[in-house]
Amino acid sequence: MTASARQLYIDLLIKILANTIYEDPSMHPKTAGTFQPELRSKGDDWPSVAHTMVGVQRLQNLRELTERVLNEGIPGDFIETGTWRGGCCILIRGILAAYGVQDRKVFVADSFEGLPPPNPKLYPADKGMNFHEYKELAIPLEQVKDNFSRYDLLDDRVEFVKGFFSDTLPALEAGPFALLRLDGDLYESTYVALDALYPKLSPGGFVIVDDMNYVPACRKAGWLSARCTRSPAAGSALSTPPRLRCSSPVCSRASMAPSFGVCARATCSHRRWPALGCIPIASSSPNAATRRQC
Ligand SMILES: C[S@@+](CC[C@H](N)C(=O)[O-])C[C@H]1O[C@@H](n2cnc3c(N)ncnc32)[C@H](O)[C@@H]1O
Repeated sequence: MTASARQLYIDLLIKILANTIYEDPSMHPKTAGTFQPELRSKGDDWPSVAHTMVGVQRLQNLRELTERVLNEGIPGDFIETGTWRGGCCILIRGILAAYGVQDRKVFVADSFEGLPPPNPKLYPADKGMNFHEYKELAIPLEQVKDNFSRYDLLDDRVEFVKGFFSDTLPALEAGPFALLRLDGDLYESTYVALDALYPKLSPGGFVIVDDMNYVPACRKAGWLSARCTRSPAAGSALSTPPRLRCSSPVCSRASMAPSFGVCARATCSHRRWPALGCIPIASSSPNAATRRQC
């Protein structure tokens, strides 16, 4: 495939995945009704038909980072935790196909039954969250597989990880990963995924936290705090946090990285969050995305 044919294929894939071609209406409780291009662009609706709800900008962000992984030779597989109809993973698999990559897998992790109810005892930040009541968020595994098939992208390089993250991710036999995409809508879902998967992220690999701007509780699941304490239940052992540096060329906080070399419990709890917050989310990258430096 020539480079221009590849780019045309990926462009078209994004248009189809976000369904900006046939323009299906939203079924989001707050935005239900006629298709609105600006909502679909930002991923602010729940499409009734499209295979992803993240919208065009975040698909472009995922495309850019996936292509950077390939161009820069960052080793490892890809995983999304919280996949709904599968669109983001279909995009990654399509990009791998377009580049003729045969030695990388895409892991599709979801309950395929919707979100778990909040567990405020262990995760107080999730108190009052009621996403588990929305049947629109529960997409059965067979339907997701069928969606992959429709693009001719279902093969043995796509692995489905079915179950709640707390049951599946800590023991997942997979990795290293080049890119983690976290989209579980809850503090618990974000925290559990970071805690289980960040250690398997290759140096230079990317983490995208989809919900950071949309679900306030997910801000609190900032990976530094996740990496500084083990689990809220165990609440004891500390691990040295990763050294971070914002990947944005315009970020004024790039020099913060060395200060993350040491973790003391008293100082880690959410205070390091600005390291992720410094990424210019509204501009080129509509998500909070950053990368592992070491
Ligand atoms: C907002 S949707 C994901 C949207 C998707 N990334 C897309 O491209 O449209 C959230 C998904 O996360 C899943 N989920 C959330 N928390 C989970 C958990 N703790 N365990 C398993 N699945 C979870 C839900 O089943 C749902 O499919």
